[in-house]
Amino acid sequence: MRVASVAHDTDDSVIVSFDTELEFAHGQHLTLRREFDGTEVRRSYSICSAAPSGELRVAIKHVAGGVFSTWATMELKPGDKVDVMPPAGHFSHELDPAAARSYTMLAAGSGITPVFSIMATILSSEPHAQVSLVYLNRTSQSTMLLDELQDLRDRYLGRLSIAFAFTREETGGELLSARPDRARLDRLIAAGFLPADADHAFLCGPIKLITEAEQALVAAGMSGSAVHREIFTTNQPGRVSLAPQEVTETSVAVATGRATLHGRATRFDLYEGDSVLDAVQRVRPDAPFSCRSGVCSTCQAVLRDGKVEMTVNYGLSAAEVARGYVLTCQAHPTTPTVDVDYDA
Ligand SMILES: Cc1cc2nc3c(=O)[nH]c(=O)nc-3n(C[C@H](O)[C@H](O)[C@H](O)COP(=O)(O)OP(=O)(O)OC[C@H]3O[C@@H](n4cnc5c(N)ncnc54)[C@H](O)[C@@H]3O)c2cc1C
Ligand code: FES
Repeated sequence: MRVASVAHDTDDSVIVSFDTELEFAHGQHLTLRREFDGTEVRRSYSICSAAPSGELRVAIKHVAGGVFSTWATMELKPGDKVDVMPPAGHFSHELDPAAARSYTMLAAGSGITPVFSIMATILSSEPHAQVSLVYLNRTSQSTMLLDELQDLRDRYLGRLSIAFAFTREETGGELLSARPDRARLDRLIAAGFLPADADHAFLCGPIKLITEAEQALVAAGMSGSAVHREIFTTNQPGRVSLAPQEVTETSVAVATGRATLHGRATRFDLYEGDSVLDAVQRVRPDAPFSCRSGVCSTCQAVLRDGKVEMTVNYGLSAAEVARGYVLTCQAHPTTPTVDVDYDA
């Protein structure tokens, strides 16, 4: 895709717009690919525009020492071409223009990007919806999309409430002036900043905050299936190997499998230490993946037959796991055969 513009947002983040009218759902992300010193790097970035707006853009925050974000925030410029995979992800829900639903949103740092898209889409597509956002940052200066959030609040006056919480700046209210732990989250719910009686909650930020917020909302009466969450990062190493391990004469075959991808089924062998993705990738280099760390869910597939164990799972909800979805980059077979369907 051709980059249409790169606008500076905070001191360490940029908003990148693409010259395209690609369709996407609110809350989805793009995986951007680029070679650094001959090594391909893939990183996911959530779309931060309203789904009906026709605009496709992402906001990228610089991570100290980060391979992709350093390049994107310092070198990327209008006119550059970037390799982008189709929009993916399920941090989303069915819109209903006739419904009068209420929504609770919690975002921390760059976690605002999908939440912004979700809020802007809901407010324009569901005219009776009410949205409450708590947005946590270190300071107002480090707050991404600040002006755009204020514009959104002005445009949907009375339907969108935003509480900015800062960990290193006074907000004028004690409740919003520290990193929320579980006790503080309970108080934010009781005070109405994070309504637990909302129809849906969308939470995006570091895993500890999001897990505690989900637990607090459920403890306050919200149904677990109404809580949607997205995690951007775990403790994954910066450069995860993108290639499967090499098969040698000493490799021990442990299972066989079948993968359906783009309408075509292919058989594969799994060796000791392989994830399902590793094994599929050897015979189908077009297998989708990005983080290889169980976070982004780009590699998800439905397990049609056999059983697997996932090392970690930050990307799939309990409902998706119950429907048979697995993260193939984390899935290791516990049966002699497995059958995965990437097209499901
Ligand atoms: C579904 C999804 C959506 C995402 N959306 C966005 C988005 O909209 N905007 C955005 O800026 N980022 C987003 N991210 C994070 C993004 O994909 C990259 O992880 C991030 O830009 C760092 O990549 P890097 O190559 O610069 O750093 P790397 O070279 O991968 O990492 C360098 C070091 O920083 C650590 N690290 C990686 N990411 C973070 C982080 N976010 N915070 C703190 N430490 C980190 C790593 O563990 C590593 O030690 C998203 C991630 C996912 C999975
Ligand atoms: S590639 Fe990101 S979860 Fe598997």
